[in-house]
Amino acid sequence: MAGLIRTWRSRLPVGPRTPVVTLHEGNTPLVPAPRLARRAGLPEDAVWLKLEGLNPTGSFKDRGMTLAVSKAVEDGAKGVLCASTGNTAASAAAYAARAGLRCVVLLPEGQVALGKLAQAIAHGAEAVTVKGNFDDALRLAREGAGGRWALVNSVNPFRIEGQKTAAFEVADALGRAPDYHFLPVGNAGNITAYWKGYVEYRRGKPRMMGWQAAGAAPIVLGRPVPKPQTLATAIRIGNPASWKQALAARDESGGRIGAVTDAAIFAAYRFLAREEGVFCEPSSAASAAGLLAFAARGGFRKARKGLRVVLTLTGNGLKDPASAQALPAKARTCAADPAAFKRLLGAA
Ligand code: F0G
Repeated sequence: MAGLIRTWRSRLPVGPRTPVVTLHEGNTPLVPAPRLARRAGLPEDAVWLKLEGLNPTGSFKDRGMTLAVSKAVEDGAKGVLCASTGNTAASAAAYAARAGLRCVVLLPEGQVALGKLAQAIAHGAEAVTVKGNFDDALRLAREGAGGRWALVNSVNPFRIEGQKTAAFEVADALGRAPDYHFLPVGNAGNITAYWKGYVEYRRGKPRMMGWQAAGAAPIVLGRPVPKPQTLATAIRIGNPASWKQALAARDESGGRIGAVTDAAIFAAYRFLAREEGVFCEPSSAASAAGLLAFAARGGFRKARKGLRVVLTLTGNGLKDPASAQALPAKARTCAADPAAFKRLLGAA
């Protein structure tokens, strides 16, 4: 069915008068990752990737945004407002365009990947650069919301409701919930949403395994980080809004929330692209870095047969060309001459 509101209507807070603002998001592939599994010392059929970068604007945010924007229209909003490290802004901008609403996005200065910025601009969002980080921008957004401006950050419960559908899809694809679910944690809305989805769907409960960047790991440290630092800009967040809910997801599921270094994130980013053919953005690779770190420390003990581990790859690699350009490239130039090209191939 077309889009997740129509597909999951009975499980979502929508009524007959709720308009459906959709770009046919959801229903993303769950693909096996045999090389990553082997690298983690697990059976080849154990590890699966949920490719959320294949949503309409290239990230999982579209799941929450279809519902948040539909409800904003139902409630008579004139515009939507969000703070963002980039993906929420891109998604809000697209769905607002579709709905004919204004869209204001608050972006931390100099910390938003180029593709995400391009999307927000292309869709006609009114971009406000904030002289501060994401946490500062979210504070402004919360202050500015109200009246006929709907806040569409994940503190909006409709965002969580939409995003929980990813857990339904994973359970359907595997025939049950996985044993472990790995994902990156920034503002902590997504880990909250997956856990809610698994609990509601009653096909089993995975251990929720959330990963923050080491320089932006407030939940791991147990205190806000005033100046979060990481090259994984999507999760450069020092004071997550859904902190308590993330702890609940961790503790109720018997999971954990850990930190991975930028070096480990970038190694996993490169590994996924080169060995699995999956190009995600750096922040998304925190889930794979987390898997490898957890496995290396003996977290899985003896992997049993039938083990199922799912990683959410939250965003598309094309959003962040600068990060890809920092990877070692096998690039050469050649004269526009067949003989020269043949020599080049021969020397390869
Ligand atoms: N991965 C990507 C690609 C993201 O864009 C985000 C969050 C996360 C992971 C973390 O998800 O916040 O639910 O824990 N991006 C937000 C944004 C903050 O503004 O686009 P979370």
